[in-house]
Amino acid sequence: MKRNGPVTALYPGSFDPVTLGHEDIARRTLRVADRVVVAVAHTATQAKRPAFSLEERVEMLQEVFGDEPRIECRSFEGLLVDFFRESNSDFVVRGLRAVSDFEYEFQMAQMNREMYADIEFIFLTPDAHLSFLSASLVREVARLGGDVSPFVSPQVLERLNRRFGEDR
Ligand code: PNS
Repeated sequence: MKRNGPVTALYPGSFDPVTLGHEDIARRTLRVADRVVVAVAHTATQAKRPAFSLEERVEMLQEVFGDEPRIECRSFEGLLVDFFRESNSDFVVRGLRAVSDFEYEFQMAQMNREMYADIEFIFLTPDAHLSFLSASLVREVARLGGDVSPFVSPQVLERLNRRFGEDR
């Protein structure tokens, strides 16, 4: 941990797209940090073909957090541990929705710790009504024409409708 200066949390992820669950975690993090860097990874550990480009995902994050100057949105290349050091962060924050998330999160945290002993992780749980939500389910429901308006901010909904409306 840094001894002085604002406490900075790094919230990494794919954010394809950002959901209300991610938004909840980022805003909750401000209860334990002075600022949050929400960072879209160029390389996700679980390989998948993204629905939105990296630039689009960062833009969506900037749109939904436009009201909160303590949240900065950007992308990063390479290893999380390297970006953690570069961004002078104090800890990494990740959301834990259910026991099923635990194994993957624990494995990632331990692997990162092997690479950089000083990295710290804090896991936050989302509001109960968001605990079933995932970006992959939102993508699938939107792609198949379902209503995802309860799960994403209006700016994200508009982009999903534009993206998948074209395919239908
Ligand atoms: O939202 P996700 O897909 O669960 O986020 C996973 C993410 C982006 C945090 C993870 O894939 C990551 O840290 N990628 C950066 C590359 C890296 O450091 N890989 C080794 C992880 S042990």
